[in-house]
Amino acid sequence: MLLSKGYEVHGILRRNSSMSKGTMDLLPENIMKQISIHYGDVTDGNFISNILSKERPEEIYHLAAQSFVGYSFQNALSTYDTNIGGTLNVCNAVKDSSPDSRLYFAATSELFGQPKESPQNELTPFVPRSPYAVAKLAGFWTVRTYRDAYRLFMTNGILFNHESEVRGPEFVTRKISQGVARIGNGSDEPIVLGNLGAVKDWGYAKDYVNGMWKMLQQDYPDDFVLGTGEAHTVREFVEAAFTLIKIKITWKGSGVNEVGLSEDGRTLVKVSREFFRPLESDNFRADYTKALKKLKWKPKTKFNDLVRIMVNSDMNKIKAIKLSNLA
Ligand code: GDD
Repeated sequence: MLLSKGYEVHGILRRNSSMSKGTMDLLPENIMKQISIHYGDVTDGNFISNILSKERPEEIYHLAAQSFVGYSFQNALSTYDTNIGGTLNVCNAVKDSSPDSRLYFAATSELFGQPKESPQNELTPFVPRSPYAVAKLAGFWTVRTYRDAYRLFMTNGILFNHESEVRGPEFVTRKISQGVARIGNGSDEPIVLGNLGAVKDWGYAKDYVNGMWKMLQQDYPDDFVLGTGEAHTVREFVEAAFTLIKIKITWKGSGVNEVGLSEDGRTLVKVSREFFRPLESDNFRADYTKALKKLKWKPKTKFNDLVRIMVNSDMNKIKAIKLSNLA
């Protein structure tokens, strides 16, 4: 999106011994060629300061994080190091080395925990319920504090779940779209999930990056909720995804014994304790009135379209592999 607007884009990547670029490897070559990559880590304050004083970017999109909520329960310290320490490094580097940069910080709907009021907006109390959310709360307040104390242009984007065809495979939407694509191509291996009743507000990431950009084009820095205003359960996501391969799922049993069956009696969805979290954060539904009013932002992609985009993309990937095996 930034390239299409004529930006010079720099990205920061962590080096690894195989020199793989993670999800950036999914970008087409002609796009990758236009991005200057700098190898470093957000937890390295010197590196962040040096790169900001050298490049003096007009805009910074600080998305670097340990972003998997489930993992944060197992590795709280490394989540805190990256998500709190890394954000502090970025804020300090902006303050000391590039104070004219405008900063976007990826805050999150996870800050709301399990909200009693619905929908949630910028005034809804934050009650985090995971090490990930606690760390993001520290990031949120660091951004607010630096903005007010040093008069810097720093914004918090309180984004509800935003998914796409390049979502990591451990996140529930992609796990489902990949599983459905596999089953649609002849596999009988069921999709194994955790809490089917979790209620989330799922939107399409492409819509949300436009909102992030808009936050940095304002006259004054502020905090904004972005979401769809629609709530769905994991179970509904599963049903919508299977509909695309013409399978109607019927649910039987409850708790970890619940299964999703096809009309011909195949078990296509199972539940395992392994994928439950010690504490759930859900009951999410965004009230994006402020973004609509001030940013003129609203989501374009409906829930069923999001599911279709993700399942079709995974179906096409399997087709492409099959074709290349034939060739
Ligand atoms: N990952 C996963 N795997 N989640 C499952 C599963 C499963 O097998 N089964 C049920 N769930 C439920 C989780 O308990 C959670 O309530 C919901 O599905 C979504 O989980 P994730 O896809 O892992 O995403 P998330 O909501 O925890 O967090 C994502 O969205 C946040 C809000 O934008 C991440 O992108 C966060 O970094 C982000 O802050």
